[in-house]
Amino acid sequence: MTSIEIRTRFLNFFAKREHAIIPSSSLITTDEKGITNSTLFISAGMQPLIPYLLGKPHPEGTRLVDVQKVLRTVDIDDIGDKTHATFFEMLGNWSLGDYFKEEAINWSYEFLTDKDEGLGMDPNRLYVTVFEGDANAPRDEEAANIWKEIFKKNKIEGERIYYLPAKNNWWEAGENGPCGPDTEMFYDVSNTFKGRGLTHTEYVEADDNREVVEIWNNVFMQYEKKNGKIIGKLPKPSVDTGAGLERLAMTLQGVDNVYDTDLLKPVMDKIKELSKNWDLVSARIVSDHIRASIFLIGEGVLPSNTDRGYVLRKLIRRAVRHSDKLVISSLVPVIESVQKIYENIYIEIQDTLVKKVLTDEEIKFRETLSKGLKEFEKGTDAFTLFSSYGFPLELTLELAKEKGINIDIEKFNEEFKKHQDLSRSGAEQKFKGGLADDRDPQIIRYHTATHLLHQALHDVLGEGIGQKGSNITLERLRFDFSYDKKMTDEEKKKVEDIVNDKINKALPVQSISLSRSEAEKTGARHFFGEKYADIVSIYFIGDTLETAYSKEFCGGPHVKNTNELAGPEGKWVFKIQKEEASSQGVRRIKAVLN
Ligand code: ALA
Repeated sequence: MTSIEIRTRFLNFFAKREHAIIPSSSLITTDEKGITNSTLFISAGMQPLIPYLLGKPHPEGTRLVDVQKVLRTVDIDDIGDKTHATFFEMLGNWSLGDYFKEEAINWSYEFLTDKDEGLGMDPNRLYVTVFEGDANAPRDEEAANIWKEIFKKNKIEGERIYYLPAKNNWWEAGENGPCGPDTEMFYDVSNTFKGRGLTHTEYVEADDNREVVEIWNNVFMQYEKKNGKIIGKLPKPSVDTGAGLERLAMTLQGVDNVYDTDLLKPVMDKIKELSKNWDLVSARIVSDHIRASIFLIGEGVLPSNTDRGYVLRKLIRRAVRHSDKLVISSLVPVIESVQKIYENIYIEIQDTLVKKVLTDEEIKFRETLSKGLKEFEKGTDAFTLFSSYGFPLELTLELAKEKGINIDIEKFNEEFKKHQDLSRSGAEQKFKGGLADDRDPQIIRYHTATHLLHQALHDVLGEGIGQKGSNITLERLRFDFSYDKKMTDEEKKKVEDIVNDKINKALPVQSISLSRSEAEKTGARHFFGEKYADIVSIYFIGDTLETAYSKEFCGGPHVKNTNELAGPEGKWVFKIQKEEASSQGVRRIKAVLN
């Protein structure tokens, strides 16, 4: 069964049971009030629905079904095994205070095993886990009893149900938000056990050996957590389902790993065709990382040295490094093969700009890589590699590990500090961070204008606002920020005036690289609670870092002087075109320079 067929069958099955089909949300987390923002990306189908799980009425009703794009970076270093992927799709059916365990469990069983309406999987190869109970919540006998009934009715023999602790059968999205016990379904993909039941010990071992693979999770949302503590029950219990499309495809297409499914096989085949030095794990990393990168760029993320842009940069760089190992000189055919798979499904990744952003970063990094590698082979130290060749420390560490060489990180930090003091003493030393960019000058102008706008909004609306997103095209900039009121005309005018004043003042735009803790001390704006690299670059607008009008953690690129924002003839002005709500508690500004 193709992945397209699986998506369609899933949506139809639940639509027939009165679920409204809703589209996938963006991969980028927002943090409307009540939405946890502890991750950079949507990493579970339930995240965009948190306010509704907490009781807010959903416009489409109390039963929903969707296929949600998700991105998980926690296992980024494990990519290459059989079942993990950075980007994947999650099928979800949702009860928002509507049905509960009885229907949820029965429908999941029916969908998985029914030949006509569902996926027709062999029920004898299914095993399920339920929550064993702890101080927070009781043992889930209710779920277990529903399963017992189902297995009995369908004459499925042997032991199938396993009670496990919170580590396995409790679901929550971080410290805050809805949570509860879950029941998970596992499938014996390679038919190792020939349909027989397994004792608890046998099952645990099979799970350890990955002989059974999780294909479906029903979470029974009943509680709410704040700062890691359960603060009470939800107004109405809800159901949150997550079923990984790639894993379902794997079981239905008779293969033992996600890279052999129709969602990744054409990419792997393309890599094989191009490669002059085949290596399975490298090929898997390239296909996984390129797919994830494409979807990120499709959401408007650009490679940079901070937050989401940094994750994207890391994914692309790792893909380039592994394509080097495979002796593949260009990733363009690989990118195209990914776009083709999702041709009629995700239009946001079909844009030619997606390919351009990715290949620009690829080309830039290949240059850095070849120069840096030569120096590395010569024994050049990590700091010189970083400061003179733009060679990231983490890459040096990775290479050193491969070659069994020890890198003196202490020395690196000392050198770093020396340079930092130098730049402090007024020399305005700039580290070459490999930030040269051949992107369109208009995009770069808008990027700098975005920083000015960000600061001007703080000046006018107060320190309470926070950046929620940014997107730049050749025609305009777009900036999302948390604020719960519509801006008045007067406020908009003030913001415009400030930005235009900074443009007229012809302020220099400069960057400096600092260790993360030093960077934080400068008071430069950044996303709180997000993971940054050990070394971050700060862009500041003004004569010195101390007196700068704007300071932000950012990978650039930017114009050299704000007067470039006035355009080639110096006549352009900054104008807010639109100010509107983008989601609850988040405003969106579109602005132009012309
Ligand atoms: N939210 C649950 C999960 O991601 C379904 O596994």
